[in-house]
Amino acid sequence: MIDVILGLQWGDEGKGKIVDYFAKEYDLIARFQGGPNAGHTLYVNNQKVVLHQIPSGVFHSGVINLIGNGVVLDPVTLKKEAEKVAAFGIDLKKNLFISDRTHLILPTHRALDKASEISKGNQKIGSTLKGIAPAYMDKTGRNGLRVGDLLDKNFTTAYIKLRLKHQRLLDNFNFQEDISSWEEEFFEALEFLKELNIVHGEYFINNYLKEGKKVLAEGAQGSMLDIDFGTFPYVTSSNTISAGVCSGLGIAPQQIRDVIGVTKAYCTRVGSGPFPTELETETGEKLRKIGNEFGATTGRPRRCGWIDLVALQYACMINGVTKLVMTKSDVLDTFKELEVCTSYKVNGKETNEIPFHMDRQKPEPVYQQFAGWDTSIDAAGSFTDLPAKMREYVSFINKYLGVDIHYISNGPGRDQIIKIK
Ligand code: GDP
Ligand code: IMO
Ligand code: MG
Repeated sequence: MIDVILGLQWGDEGKGKIVDYFAKEYDLIARFQGGPNAGHTLYVNNQKVVLHQIPSGVFHSGVINLIGNGVVLDPVTLKKEAEKVAAFGIDLKKNLFISDRTHLILPTHRALDKASEISKGNQKIGSTLKGIAPAYMDKTGRNGLRVGDLLDKNFTTAYIKLRLKHQRLLDNFNFQEDISSWEEEFFEALEFLKELNIVHGEYFINNYLKEGKKVLAEGAQGSMLDIDFGTFPYVTSSNTISAGVCSGLGIAPQQIRDVIGVTKAYCTRVGSGPFPTELETETGEKLRKIGNEFGATTGRPRRCGWIDLVALQYACMINGVTKLVMTKSDVLDTFKELEVCTSYKVNGKETNEIPFHMDRQKPEPVYQQFAGWDTSIDAAGSFTDLPAKMREYVSFINKYLGVDIHYISNGPGRDQIIKIK
């Protein structure tokens, strides 16, 4: 049986914290897509840790972690992260397994990401510059190198061949930066990677399932950044939605039980692209300040706005969400008034659907106003303990989406979460 935790907005919904919270109930935590563009923040012994490549179950003894074939892996980031978790006494040789089919991010992928963004000028995607799109392009273009290739004696020859191809592309972009130091650390990190547990991920995970063990799949990015259903072209290069779990781990759809969708009580986006409920006002600034909305991977300020139920309903539909978790509710604690986007206006017409091309069609949000609860909910232990105004906000969202919020997270800490259903 597999449960899935994934983001329903434009990323940074607090997936890392929620995965860490639930991890102890599972035997295996598996990342199925994305790469070091992800930044998942956890608090361990009151210390902040940001994970980019390693699944967020890593701090629980007895829980095994898997990097699935759908992920793109930067060995350099992995090595740095291994050192970071080692300070907490975590030895990845014991609790991390990596699929041999996982594609590698090469230094030239990072260079190509940068060169491509520069060439786009003011139409840039706002990529994290971690080499994600070039690595997935080499996967679908059938050129990429995989973790299992490291064990082949011809790896260096294959690397040089691909690097030459990349160099020609970089020359086309007129990219001049010297990346020799990137290559040096890459080859060092490959030696480290080879020492870890490299497995046939699909057999590994299916054996767990056969033995009746519980698996949790951890999403990265968010549904509105999905390559097919997100705000294309301002998206990432993988399927971030629940469908990606099957292809990104090698499991059958019948194995999936709950799809737990994580949403903030408001909404943020980092990088370029349409964001209908964005508030470029003092209210947006207040959300950013109280919510400490700065990217966990790049440090960029996140764009902030009200919760968008049109986009959330779309994400619930595409993912088959069975339970919702609402994070960062505490950020709204001091707001006297709240707004909730209930439909869009496109060319003067009201709609509840996501337009084909948000950037061109520029939907205008239609809002419903709510009174803020204007108090902290630290002491609440159940739905009935919540202030009436918050119950109203939650019930409205549940009804609109046809899926219930089961947990409310009210702070970044490990235990700052309330079960309300
Ligand atoms: P992820 O990428 O979905 O794992 O989310 P990030 O870690 O990038 O961003 C979420 C940020 O919000 C992190 O700084 C978390 O520590 C923080 N956070 C998570 N849940 C809550 C919450 O309920 N309240 C507050 N105030 N912060 C939270
Ligand atoms: P987590 O897992 C928020 C955004 C980038 C950019 C676009 C493409 O922490 O939620 P990419 O580097 O993938 O080519 O960038 O996607 N993006 C994220 N935004 N959270 C993330 O991950 C993101 N990963 C990528 O800002 O707009
Ligand atoms: Mg993040």
